[in-house]
Amino acid sequence: MSPHHTAAAAGAGDAPDGADAPILPAGQMPRHIAIVMDGNGRWAAGRGRPRSAGHRAGQKAVRAAIEFCLRQGVPALTLFAFSSENWRRPEGEVRALMELFLRALDREVRNLHKNGIRVRFIGDLDAFQAPLRERMERAQALTAGNQALTLNVAVSYGGRWDIVQACRALARQARDRDLDPERIDEALFDRHTTLSDLPPPDLFIRTGGDQRISNFLLWQLAYAELWFTPVLWPDVDAAVLTRACLEFAARERRFGLTSEQVRP
Ligand code: IPE
Ligand code: IPE
Ligand code: MG
Repeated sequence: MSPHHTAAAAGAGDAPDGADAPILPAGQMPRHIAIVMDGNGRWAAGRGRPRSAGHRAGQKAVRAAIEFCLRQGVPALTLFAFSSENWRRPEGEVRALMELFLRALDREVRNLHKNGIRVRFIGDLDAFQAPLRERMERAQALTAGNQALTLNVAVSYGGRWDIVQACRALARQARDRDLDPERIDEALFDRHTTLSDLPPPDLFIRTGGDQRISNFLLWQLAYAELWFTPVLWPDVDAAVLTRACLEFAARERRFGLTSEQVRP
């Protein structure tokens, strides 16, 4: 396998035979997968280790998810890494997570860039200290022109924050007389939310066994297929993601219409 091969450069070892084979016809794969990466703390607790060890272990699953999307031609992946509510966790855990983000950025960005991945961070980035924020901005600038995969990392993100910041932007325009409030419709509102340049998530995955959205992409998930698994995030691999995509492809998405209307 050449050093430029996506798997090698994304940090994983050689893929087992068949890992490159498409699991579904391209038209049946989700075009955008959004994942709540949950269960790191429980993974660590089950091994008698501190929660931070679970967060560290979760990085391997992040690489597996990125690699899966590259291999399977999924053009957009959005990962929930840190919510607006997670700031309220014990100080030591928040600090450990910030250090982990910092080190991960320093270590991984060049590889992501080499693999043609466009990296973006969505959330209230002003909440981060300057060194972390600057690295995020640099990573975004460096990879802005890449096209193999758009990787959105949601940090200090809340779905409600996203909706409120869109409202604020529109209200500012109305105040400045650049916008007639009567012109606000769903399409215009959508353009002010994060990820508006991408198709909305087709497939929402939450690991760790809980079945809730926890303030992830509230606006964007309106018609996503929801898929839950008890597998803890650090244990996630291509097999788990394959299962999610196969079940996704077997569902009938009706978008409010009847079966008869949507059947080919
Ligand atoms: C998800 O794992 C990672 C973050 C929220 C940062 P958790 O840390 O929530 O793990 P559990 O849910 O406690 O097992
Ligand atoms: C959701 O997980 C946020 C992330 C995975 C980053 P949480 O562990 O914070 O969610 P709750 O608290 O169980 O709802
Ligand atoms: Mg959790």
